[in-house]
Amino acid sequence: MTISDISNNLDAFWMPFTANRQFKNAPRLLVSAKGMYYTSHDGRQILDGSAGLWCINAGHCHPKIVEAIRTQAGELDYAPPFQMAHPKAFELSSRLVTMTPGELDHVFFANSGSEAVDTALKIALAYHRARGDAGRVRLIGRERAYHGVGFGGIAVGGMVANRKQFGALFAGVDHLPHTYDPKRQAYSRGQPEQGAELADALERLVGLHDASTIAAVIVEPMAGSTGVLIPPKGYLERLRTICDKYGILLIFDEVITGFGRLGTPFAADYFGVEPDMMTVAKGITSGTVPMSAVFTNNKIFDTLIGATPEGGIELAHGYTYSSHPLAVAASLATLDVYRDEGLFQRAHDLSPYWEDAVHSLKGTRHVIDLRNVGLVGAVEIEPRPGAPGKRTYDVFTGCYAEGVLTRQSGDIICLSPPLIVEKSQIDQIIETLRKVLMRVD
Ligand SMILES: Cc1ncc(COP(=O)(O)O)c(C=O)c1O
Repeated sequence: MTISDISNNLDAFWMPFTANRQFKNAPRLLVSAKGMYYTSHDGRQILDGSAGLWCINAGHCHPKIVEAIRTQAGELDYAPPFQMAHPKAFELSSRLVTMTPGELDHVFFANSGSEAVDTALKIALAYHRARGDAGRVRLIGRERAYHGVGFGGIAVGGMVANRKQFGALFAGVDHLPHTYDPKRQAYSRGQPEQGAELADALERLVGLHDASTIAAVIVEPMAGSTGVLIPPKGYLERLRTICDKYGILLIFDEVITGFGRLGTPFAADYFGVEPDMMTVAKGITSGTVPMSAVFTNNKIFDTLIGATPEGGIELAHGYTYSSHPLAVAASLATLDVYRDEGLFQRAHDLSPYWEDAVHSLKGTRHVIDLRNVGLVGAVEIEPRPGAPGKRTYDVFTGCYAEGVLTRQSGDIICLSPPLIVEKSQIDQIIETLRKVLMRVD
């Protein structure tokens, strides 16, 4: 198929987070997928080095997941989730909370990471209010955080490009500093040794605003979208301690890290720190049907349920498509695949090979840092003077032309292959990057 075969022109579709005019001058369309590969509109096999958008953990078009979605579509297309339900939503919930760490025993469903984040922030506010502490309204995010595109998510998020077009956002938000310090951390393998003390900035914010005004802190345990910023050793532990000291809820946004990306079910397991709430999406259905979720601990759930008289709605929140039957069926099948194929363990077992492969790019032209954790990697590229992102865009498009899909974030190439990746495919991803880096100016 060529672009000219596509019957509708490219104008009508306003593409998200895309340079629309640039893209439409040289489109990159994906028309089918299987396992580790996409097929492009010009008939090429594209090795997926980014699991789509960090989400296809079980590989593309897995037959068991496809079959579950097909069957569900013919059996129960939709059931209202308000004052009604369908049985598989309970089955999925029970299964999910057996996977989550510690006390995270309750789950609220939404449809995207952005919705999960807004849901978690709202639950945090509602929780403190239910405790009779309604003055706790501040939400603390972090610089270089990505929490999706809802107003809550961009307010606590730390990406200027995602905030500046959209007015004053909402009041009462503050930010921790990000954890990336290349002078001390460059070329760290896994967690950097230096930087735990950056968590102490939360003490300063408590000093500035007073703990009695702060509801929650939200962080990605590993910041993904802004270029794979891995928490320094001891950092998350310190955040947890400070939150506990002041009665502040700690929310982990695990939209990327959930479901095996780091070789454990969740990053909370990997780093050994238990949050009060955890947001997930993407890997919950291996990207096949939109779905997200918020896990809350018993303290939050019991407080909110207990604060409302019997017969009253405990949380005035939900989505038409919360626990949509197709998403639930996709998720149940995805969990089966993760279990039956041992994919989290596989990611864990592959991660030393992955680490060596990523760090083999040290010394390659333009490379100024390399980072890795689990099956995630980042190649930090020196920008051309006065042209941030341009060289890295050329690397991204160069790799695509060579048959490898990566993800560009500013001057960073992010890598996160499906958890079914083979060693030879890891080699292909890295060798393609090496070749393209040597070629671009
Ligand atoms: C950590 C994190 N939170 C939230 C989101 C938003 O998810 P969605 O695009 O499904 O709204 C993302 C998306 O990449 C993410 O990485």
